[in-house]
This record gives sequence, C-alpha cells and structure tokens, in this order.
Amino acid sequence: MKYSVLPILILFVLAMTQPVQSQTPTYQNPDAAIEDRVEDLLNRMTVYEKIGQMTQLNITTINPTGKQADVELVEEKARDLIGNHHIGSFLNGEAVPPEQWFRFTNQLTRLAMEESRLGIPIIYGIDHVHGANYLEGGTIFPHNINLGATFNPQHSYNTGWVTAYETADLGHHWNFAPILDIGVNPLWPRIYETFGEDPRLAARMGESYINGYQRNEEIEPYNVAATAKHFLGYSDPKSGWDRSPAYIPKQAIHEFHRPSFQAAVDAGIKTVMLNSGEINGIPVHGSYELVTELLRDEMGFDGVVVTDWADIEKLVDFHFISENFKEATFRSVMAGIDMSMTPLTLEFNEAMQALVDEGRITEDRIDESVRRILRLKFELGLFEHPYPSNERLNRIGTTESKVKALEAARESIVLLRNKNGVLPVLNPTRILVAGPSADSKRNLAGGWTLAWQGANEERYPDDMMTILDALRAEYPDADIEHVTKTPSQQQIDAADLIVYAGGEEPYTEFVGNISDLTLPQNQLDEISRLSESATPLVLVLVQGRPRLITSVEEKTDAILHAGLPGFQGANAIAEIISGAVNPSGKLPISYPESPSHFTPYNHKPSANYDFDEEDANQISQVSQPTSLYPFGHGLSYTTFTYSDLRLSKSFIGENGSLSASVAVTNAGNRAGMESVLWFITDHVGTITRPVEELAHFEKIALEPGETKRVQFEIQPSEQLSYPDRNGQPILEEGYFTVKVGELTKEFRLEKNKDD
Ligand code: BGC
Repeated sequence: MKYSVLPILILFVLAMTQPVQSQTPTYQNPDAAIEDRVEDLLNRMTVYEKIGQMTQLNITTINPTGKQADVELVEEKARDLIGNHHIGSFLNGEAVPPEQWFRFTNQLTRLAMEESRLGIPIIYGIDHVHGANYLEGGTIFPHNINLGATFNPQHSYNTGWVTAYETADLGHHWNFAPILDIGVNPLWPRIYETFGEDPRLAARMGESYINGYQRNEEIEPYNVAATAKHFLGYSDPKSGWDRSPAYIPKQAIHEFHRPSFQAAVDAGIKTVMLNSGEINGIPVHGSYELVTELLRDEMGFDGVVVTDWADIEKLVDFHFISENFKEATFRSVMAGIDMSMTPLTLEFNEAMQALVDEGRITEDRIDESVRRILRLKFELGLFEHPYPSNERLNRIGTTESKVKALEAARESIVLLRNKNGVLPVLNPTRILVAGPSADSKRNLAGGWTLAWQGANEERYPDDMMTILDALRAEYPDADIEHVTKTPSQQQIDAADLIVYAGGEEPYTEFVGNISDLTLPQNQLDEISRLSESATPLVLVLVQGRPRLITSVEEKTDAILHAGLPGFQGANAIAEIISGAVNPSGKLPISYPESPSHFTPYNHKPSANYDFDEEDANQISQVSQPTSLYPFGHGLSYTTFTYSDLRLSKSFIGENGSLSASVAVTNAGNRAGMESVLWFITDHVGTITRPVEELAHFEKIALEPGETKRVQFEIQPSEQLSYPDRNGQPILEEGYFTVKVGELTKEFRLEKNKDD
C-alpha cells in the first residue's frame, strides 16, 4: 500500500468520538440564556458594528422622497445603511394602511436578517402616543391630558393595550410613549401630552399604560417596548416654550418630576427618552448627573436610554455646550446615552469611530450600551420573530377597541360650569352650532394624529364624527343648524340652545409655542356676541391646554372642557349635552384665571392672609391668587355628598398604617361616576410643604341614592415622607390633615409610637 490508511483511520475515529458541535451560534439559540446570547453576539461584533447598534435613523433616510409620509423602502439605501454601517434601529412614518406598513417593515427586516453579516434584527420605533395614530384605521384614543381627567387608570391601560394589539404585528416594536412629564406650565405646547400636573396621577396613569402595552399577552409571539419620556423636567420651561431652559431645584426634581418616571422604572419600562431641553444650565443630553447618577444609579433603570430627535447635534447648535458633533457625542455618550436618534446622518457613527480611534471612548463603554440594546432585542424576541405578520389585520380598529376609546372620551370630558342646570338638554327643537371646532375632525384629535402636526381634514376617516355630526345623530328630530357667520337675532331667538365649539387647532411640539394663553380674541368676541340673547350658550373647549376664558366665563351658561378627546370625542360630547352620559371628568390641571399668573394646585398660597385693616389699606392691591377652576374641579348631573370621614386612629407610627374612609352618596336622581380625590397636608415641614397633595384617588359608580364607603391606607413612607435635595426621604413627626370632598380630619405622626 502506497499510503498508510492509519492517519485517516485515526482522524475518522477522532471525529466520531468528538461531541457533536452545534452549528448554531449561541446568540441564535433560543434556548440559551439571554445574557449568554448577548455576550456571544457582542464577542463576534466589530467596533463599527457595535456603533451601528447605537444608532437610530429616520425613515426619510431609506425612503424614496425623504418625506415622513412615505412609507416605502429604497432597498439600496437600506442595504448600504444596514450592510455597511450596521444601523440597528429606524423610526417614524405617518399613517398609512396596515398592508403598507407590513410590506415596508417586512422588506426592511429581510435586509437586516439576510443581508447583514450577523443577522441582527432591526428595532423599529414610532410615536403612537394616543392609540395607533400612525396607522390608517387605527383606534385613536383621547390624548393623555384627557386620560388624566378620567382619574381612571383603566383608560390608560386600555390605550396601551389597544395600541400594542393593533400595531405589534406590523413591526412596530418600540413605542415612544407614555409621556410622563408633569403638566406644570400651562403655556407649554406639550401640556396635552401629559396626564396633568400631579405627580401621583401621572405615575398611576403611566404605570397603567406600561402594563397595558408591554404586558399585552394577545400580541404573542411578539413583544413590545414602551418609552418613558422625556426624562426629566422637560415640562417646566421658564418661558413656557418648548425646549427652552428650565430651572428646577434638585429637591423639586425629586419631589415632583421624578415620581412618574420612578413608577415607570418600577413597572419595568424598557426604554427611556431624554428631555431635549436643559435644566439649571445643563442640557439633559449632556448630564452625567441626571442620566447616569440619577436615572441609572439611584432610580435603578437598566434598560435603553435613547436621545430625543437630533439632540446630540443640538448640544452644538442649540445649547452651544460643545464645539462640534464629535465633542457633543463624547459628552452625551459619557453622560450615559445608549442610542442616538441621530436621525438623518451618519455623523454619530463617524464621531464614535473617531473617538474610539483616539482612545477617548473605550470599547468597554460601547459594550455597556450595546449590551442593553441587544438585551432589549432578545427580550422582545426579535431574533426568533423578526418578521411582521399580516394575518391578524382584522384586529385593527375593531368595534371593541373603538368602544374603549369612546368610554375613555366620555369619562374625560369635564363639565366646568352648568348655570341653572342648563345641561343636559333633553328634547330641543333647534340648536345652533358655531365656532371653529364645530365641524372639524382634526381639532378633536389634536397633534400626533395621522401626521406629526395632525393631518389635513380630508385624511380623517369617514366614520369619525364632528361635533356637528354627532349632535345631529344624537338629536335626530331636532334642527341642528351650523352657523358660520354671526347668526341673526331671529335665528338665535328660535333656538333652544347655542353650542359654541372653540379652542385650538392641532399643533405638536414647538409649533405650538404661543405668547398669550388667552383664547384668541375673535373667539372671545363671538362668544360675547352669542351670549347677548336669552338663548342658553354652551361653550365647548376643544383644546390641548387651558386657554384663558375668564372674560367670557360668566357670559356662558355651561362650559364643557372637551380637551382633545380623539376620534370618538364628538360622540361623547353630544352624549353629555343630551344627558345620555353623565359627565365625570375632573380637571387634571388647574385652569388659570389670568395670563401672567399660574398656580399649581399644590402650591397655591394660603388663603389666610392675616392683615389688620390698617395694614391692608397700605397695600394698594391685596390680590388673592387663585385658579379660575381648581385642580380636581368637575361637575356632574347628579350630586355626590361626602359624609362620615373616619380615621382608624389619631396617630400613626413610622412603620404603621392608618386607614381613612369616607361615605360617598349619590344624592341626586341619576346614576353617575365620581372620582374620589384624597388630599393630605403636612402642617409643618423643614422644606415648605405643598398646601395640598393628592394622596390617593379612586373612581366609583353610584346609582341614585346609593352610598359606598371608600377607603385608603395611609403609609408614612408612601404619603407622609418627602425627598430632600439628594432624593433621601424625610419623615417628620407632627400633624397632618387628610381631606376628601370638603371633609377634613387631623392625625399625628409619632415615629416611635407602636401601632
Ligand atoms: C419628540 C419626541 C418624539 C421624537 C420622535 C421628538 O421631536 O420630542 O417626543 O418621540 O421626536 O418622533
């Protein structure tokens, strides 16, 4: 034999005795632990591939026209960005039919899975902030300010749940909602995106949204990620304009701005988006103190931190804290961001590579962020189920979902005024309907609807009603006349009612900046003119923030604060006017009285100025600052009475609890819902305490004559302590007052008392 077979034999035996090596890399093995998959994938990636995962680009970088509305893919563009620059995330779009979204995300996913070196799935981000607002046929819920007015977290849960249900199949993995900024400056154009001014209300509504959205089991095999935005203090700019500087003491950050975000972290929120603005002279995108020390170290957030739109660039050309994009990138990454919503260029990728080459950003630092991003992708199951599905499109815009939106709208409308019980109007023969929102769909839906600024009227669905349509449907036998010019005296006299629907047109972000909160003069003039007759006048305010109506308030007979109630909003308004629905909304924000003076409910100055007459005369004007309508105000067609407030004891120990309860009776003759709001006042505190603080709320339904006892447990660490400037809890002995309705009772905190 010329060649010995021995070596071949040995090789054969060796091969047969080796354990069978899996061909599947660990990161692609669905049975491996997520942490092992992350590490395995990370070890296979080049630095530039990792940087790509930290980048999010806008849809306009991969579509034909560079227009937001163009949900079409140009494969060569996407192939270059994904194949050569390893981009891991894209965002945005506008409302297009579900089939089109499906085609687009399917094609995009195929490129990422089949044509990139490692087959890492894309994570697609979108702003479905009040239902599936970037999807034709999607269910559009009221905006958050309305959800706040319901004081019913179920509606916030439903909003999240339906949004996931309608969009998860379409490759919308990541929703930039909920907005957890608290609505403290009524001029701010994003007030309507908030749940109102109260931290506890925002926290409860936010966590309910997150539970509804992230934990929706009906969307299996998909999973989705919510975003708590915009961390932190975005909503309190000194000028009232979007993205303008805020000055917020550290203590106030902890006490007022942190709780809603903390609740989101505790509820398992997967991502956080940063505030585009600056606090105390430091843009949040460059603040190690806020992003790493506060959000991560103190608050315990371990998910993905994404920048807001082009906010690294803004450190250069808006905030002027960095000389160029590379320095801005360094500042922001070292502050703690994980992903840059760059979103139009590859500047971030280039800057990062340069910073790595210069040794200023280490691969370890990059790994920290990429680990979080990959972990998110694994947790969402994107490696196993990267492709969208078009098999359940019948889930979009179902009757059940629309009913959920309608129920939310009904409970979100606030009856501010009802002189002589003018509402409801049972059997009118003739109603005049006037004002800029009388026959408008877009005004009811507000910004972020179908398009960023709210789409043109023609794009709204045929089955959505305007207030005019809804009144016609509600009163089929009445003559409902739309008046676009000042009606004649004869027209007015012949009517049983005038409905004037005013307020605001849609706007989003800085586009809604205004310098005067007063309702536009032409509307005030029209309201005044219409109020001159004996025909009752109902003012319906369709608006994103509380526009001042002080000069006309007394001239109206009734005022309905409709806010931005969404696609079912007009139906809810008409049902409330007719009495088919009993209003139960309460204001989640104080309604200001005067243009230059805003008073958050929990800091209103005490009413008990103690002047003797002589002193008072010296002061030319002792004004009593107040709101036109306070936080929590809202009328019903029935009357609720509160009685028999009881505390289980008169003191509470540091680790004890005290139960407060009250009887609430429906003393009127129709069924209704009542949000029971409990407030606590700390009599003395080392740091000035809020005059009133919402401690708890609960919404109940009562039949006529029915009484329910409502109860809540006061726990020192929850309701009686407050943070110092470092976020550490202060718990001080002394007296507290608990208030519900107009009833109050005192109790005392005695730390060492056993109970
Ligand atoms: C807004 C965010 C939004 C993002 C993406 C920004 O301008 O501030 O709220 O999520 O754009 O569209």
